[in-house]
Order: sequence, then C-alpha cells, then structure tokens
Amino acid sequence: MMKLRVLSSDLLRVCAALAMVLVAVVHVHAAVPNYNPLRDPSFGPIPDEDPSYSDYLGVAPPFPGNLSSPILNTTSGTPGLDDVVFQNLLGAEWLVYNVYQQGVELFNASDFINAGFPNTTFDHIAQIRDNEAGHLRVFQDQISNASVAPGPCK
Ligand SMILES: *[C@@H]1O[C@H](CO)[C@@H](O)[C@H](O)[C@H]1NC(C)=O
Ligand SMILES: *[C@@H]1O[C@H](CO)[C@@H](O)[C@H](O)[C@H]1NC(C)=O
Ligand SMILES: *[C@@H]1O[C@H](CO)[C@@H](O)[C@H](O)[C@H]1NC(C)=O
Ligand SMILES: *[C@@H]1O[C@H](CO)[C@@H](O)[C@H](O)[C@H]1NC(C)=O
Ligand SMILES: *[C@@H]1O[C@H](CO)[C@@H](O)[C@H](O)[C@H]1NC(C)=O
Repeated sequence: MMKLRVLSSDLLRVCAALAMVLVAVVHVHAAVPNYNPLRDPSFGPIPDEDPSYSDYLGVAPPFPGNLSSPILNTTSGTPGLDDVVFQNLLGAEWLVYNVYQQGVELFNASDFINAGFPNTTFDHIAQIRDNEAGHLRVFQDQISNASVAPGPCK
C-alpha cells in the first residue's frame, strides 16, 4: 500500500513537470508571433559551411535563389541600424545572382564549347551562380526581423 502511494506521488510529480514543460513550450510559441523559418540563419545551407554554395552544378535555382518573394518582417520593432544598407546590398546581389542563374538556364556546356570557350566554362558559370546565392543568404541573415529582406525582381 505504502509503495503504491509513493509511486502515485512520483507519478503526480512527473505529470506536474510535464505540464510545466508544456506550458513553457506553448509560452515560447506564443512569444514568437509570425515565426518564419527563413529568418533563422541556421535554416537551409549555411554560407561558408555548405559546399552547395560553391559546387552545385544543377540548373534548378539553389537556395535562397529559389525564393520568389521578399522575406517579410516578423516584428514591428525598431529596424536594425544597418538594415537599409543590407537591403540595398541584397537587392544588388539578387541582380548579380540572376545574371548567372539565367545564364545557366539559357545555355548549356555545348553552347560555350561551340563558341570556342574551354569545356569547363559552363560549370564555372554555375559555380559563380552558387557563390552569388551564398551572398544572398549572407545579407538576408544581416537584416533585422523588423525589416523586410528584399526578394528578386522580374
Ligand atoms: C530573427 O528571428 C529568428 C527566429 O525567428 C532568429 O533566429 C534570428 O536570429 C533573428 N534575426 C536577427 C537578425 O536577429
Ligand atoms: C527552397 O530551398 C529550401 C532549402 O532547400 C527549401 O526548404 C524550400 O522549400 C525551397 N523553397 C521553394 C519555394 O522551392
Ligand atoms: C512589419 O513592419 C511594419 C512597419 O513597421 C509594421 O506595420 C508591421 O506590423 C510589421 N509586421 C509584423 C508582422 O510585425
Ligand atoms: C545545348 O543547347 C542547344 C541549343 O542552344 C541544343 O541544340 C543542344 O542540343 C544542347 N546540348 C545539350 C548537350 O543539351
Ligand atoms: C575538356 O577539355 C580537356 C582539354 O582541354 C580534355 O582533356 C577533357 O577531357 C575535356 N573534358 C570533357 C568532359 O570533355
């Protein structure tokens, strides 16, 4: 009987602990309105760590070049001191990235070989494109959550 009572009080304590964890989790979620994973620098390939920013040779746009919209602000606080600077840089990087991405989509390796360029030219254009995608991510990460991170233009 004694054992059972001890057991049930332990059980109660575990339940109470679980309930507290649940409340904490719900609270954290409630404290993060408009959560957007794209705002988290650890989302997706990380510049200077992931090789996709240097040697992906596919035609499909690599992250974050695959985004078609701006990343909206998730808070309405005071913008970061350098947000406007990084918004301008990000806008410029989108232009540069798109030059190379469109090159990858319009041409193939044979086009460059036939035009007299080395047979590595097409792959190098894809790799420069990858590097530019890394720059997009670097600048996205610098913009505070109170400001919009610009997307590509058409
Ligand atoms: C923006 O919020 C995300 C979480 O949603 C956080 O990971 C990130 O560090 C914040 N960005 C800045 C620049 O503070
Ligand atoms: C873009 O790439 C990221 C990372 O691979 C992926 O999670 C996301 O779903 C892609 N978004 C679109 C619109 O394709
Ligand atoms: C984004 O910023 C604007 C301008 O400060 C603000 O009106 C809006 O509420 C913000 N959005 C969110 C989700 O906080
Ligand atoms: C490369 O593109 C040209 C058209 O510009 C096409 O004729 C050719 O078949 C393509 N070559 C390969 C290997 O896809
Ligand atoms: C590319 O050209 C070099 C010579 O310049 C040659 O050795 C190599 O086999 C070629 N590679 C392909 C995939 O055609």
